Amino acid sequence: MKKNIQIAIDGPASSGKSTVAKIIANDLAIIYLDTGAMYRSATLVSIEEQTKNSIEIIDYLKDNPISFEKTSVFIGNRDVTEVIRDNEVTSNVSEISAIPEIRKFMVSEQRRIAGSSSIIMDGRDIATVVLPNADLKIFLIADVEERAQRRYKENIKRGIESDLGYLIEEIATRDKYDSTREVSPLKPAEDSIIFDTTGKSIEEVVAFIENKAKELK
Ligand code: DC
Repeated sequence: MKKNIQIAIDGPASSGKSTVAKIIANDLAIIYLDTGAMYRSATLVSIEEQTKNSIEIIDYLKDNPISFEKTSVFIGNRDVTEVIRDNEVTSNVSEISAIPEIRKFMVSEQRRIAGSSSIIMDGRDIATVVLPNADLKIFLIADVEERAQRRYKENIKRGIESDLGYLIEEIATRDKYDSTREVSPLKPAEDSIIFDTTGKSIEEVVAFIENKAKELK
């Protein structure tokens, strides 16, 4: 396998990106960056500070930077790992992440974190915008019903009350919004490998991507 590798995993909501990216990061001993968590953090700031003004949100995040420690996400010293998954954040994140200045700020942070290290990043625009020279670009897709089922099970495990019909609608709405926004819409790069995970186990998806990574020279 190549020494320094950059892997981009893009795809719609709940397509399994972060689950497989975390496993691959661990197996290959490389950094993992969950870019969705960064947009969710900006959305939490927007809700709590009651502002959609990008300058105010960015200034707040400059004073209280987003950071990652093992599986936790922090804004300043505050652990926001759980709260950024709340329904209120999820239903507002598409709107906040469509603001061009917010994206510009996040992309520059993401590139800074990547530096020249080996990294696997998951998101919507990693292959198209953040790391256009990534060695491996994977675009994961899956049926909306299956994605909603996966999230339903995850929510139940975390003790969050859930309704499958609501989840199907929420995921479909978010996908539509994320794919049709003007700046950096959700889409594969020309050289992305599109992989349909419907009916596939996590292990199968991980094996597919790791085999591709091993082929890199
Ligand atoms: O991956 P996720 O569901 O946690 O992402 C939450 C939202 O953040 C998603 O609906 C769109 C936005 N997002 C984005 O616009 N660009 C990224 N690179 C990652 C996420």
